Amino acid sequence: MKLDVLLGLQWGDEGKGKIVDVLTANYDMVARFQGGPNAGHTIEFDEQKFILHTIPSGIFDPVKVNVIGNGVIIDAAILDQEIKGLKEKGINASENLHISRKAHLILPTHRLLDAACETSKGKLKIGSTLKGISPTYMDKIGRNGLRIGDIFSENFREKYNKLKDSHLKTISFYDFDYADYKIDGSLFDEYEQKWFEGIEKIKSCKLINSEYYVNNALAANKRILAEGAQGSMLDIDFGSYPFVTSSNTINSGVCSGLGVSPHKVGKVYGIFKAYCTRVGAGPFPTELHDEDGERMRDVGREYGSTTGRPRRCGWLDLVALKYSIMLNGVDELMMMKADVLSPFEELKICTAYRIDGKKTNEVPFDLSTREIVPEYTTLRGWNEDISGLEDIDGIPKELNHYVEFIESVVNIPVRIISIGPDRKQTLRRGETSLNL
Ligand code: GDP
Ligand code: IMO
Ligand code: MG
Repeated sequence: MKLDVLLGLQWGDEGKGKIVDVLTANYDMVARFQGGPNAGHTIEFDEQKFILHTIPSGIFDPVKVNVIGNGVIIDAAILDQEIKGLKEKGINASENLHISRKAHLILPTHRLLDAACETSKGKLKIGSTLKGISPTYMDKIGRNGLRIGDIFSENFREKYNKLKDSHLKTISFYDFDYADYKIDGSLFDEYEQKWFEGIEKIKSCKLINSEYYVNNALAANKRILAEGAQGSMLDIDFGSYPFVTSSNTINSGVCSGLGVSPHKVGKVYGIFKAYCTRVGAGPFPTELHDEDGERMRDVGREYGSTTGRPRRCGWLDLVALKYSIMLNGVDELMMMKADVLSPFEELKICTAYRIDGKKTNEVPFDLSTREIVPEYTTLRGWNEDISGLEDIDGIPKELNHYVEFIESVVNIPVRIISIGPDRKQTLRRGETSLNL
């Protein structure tokens, strides 16, 4: 059996959580392979809303296995909080949660380092979620990190203190006073205590050698869905560097983040919003600074799931979308939040960039520093409420045309149209390998 993959194709927050939850019925296992609690994946059903940061979005189906792979980085305090939050709503997450021993730990001092580094950048700051992502991946690559499997070692405290001290030494070089700095509302000592409580909770979870676990499951014909975090335009190599996250968010991250061979990757599902959003700093060619952008933010409730920050909004960018499709080898597309465009009489889609007067269909190396003028095609909006539709045959012809236009440019079929945040607001379109 091969493992299928679901990836965000834009700047994150495409609606991955919703779709993974919907697709979980088709799979035996859902696995996260990169990123950490910078992710915020929202799932809505039965008038309940959940936001997951570390736990895979398959957790609501009590018979499915959920794996946090080696490529993910874990903040013990946040994971503990997530498990507790789910428990309060009647979901026993630790029952079906399996965590890789090779996943790296985000220490409380990684959180301080993230804040110190961002503060020092002044106007050039990345707009990090301040969850310690970059310092933790730096320690992983620098071969200094602590991993989940280390928490049982006799001298874990000693190792922790050694790394903590080296972080505090680094922090002393910054103009950053951590004594007053609050990590998710707590001062350092209090947060550190919660973190160690979280470590105890992790000890009671199922810790696995995930590369064997996942490959054995495939050999036993189990169906697995890999759940991406962030989006391709935030990829450390191919995103708008340096305004990116610190992991490979693209398809290749699945192999290194779960320990599976590229031969084992099956279908690749790419998910995008019917428009674009970005949270944090960095280039965004189709960004709108007018009432159209504000309307997208209001109607789409575009506020960060992890930080609550308002998301920047703009028209759909097919240059960026085609780039992401190429990088990931996408087989089928899912278009989210079509309902958010309902109030618009006219819709614009960017089909090319103009840079220094020259037209291009490629994302340039220096996206962050060049002035990019998007070239738009204008299409008629559908201008009617679609959020209650139950059948794809009922969609307005203008919406069908919008989707056909996208397909004609990117040459990949759109197989799901999402018309609202709830599980039920999901329309299947045409022949698909997805069993909805
Ligand atoms: P993720 O990080 O990719 O999982 O996405 P987020 O959860 O951060 O952000 C997506 C937001 O859009 C969430 O608030 C979802 O509940 C919501 N959402 C998902 N699909 C739709 C949709 O089709 N229409 C609307 N209006 N909201 C949606
Ligand atoms: P999901 O999985 C949207 C952005 C941050 C910042 C940059 C670097 O919910 O789609 P980091 O904390 O990783 O150092 O921040 O990346 N970012 C996201 N934006 N959705 C996400 O995840 C994101 N994770 C990180 O806003 O610009
Ligand atoms: Mg999100």
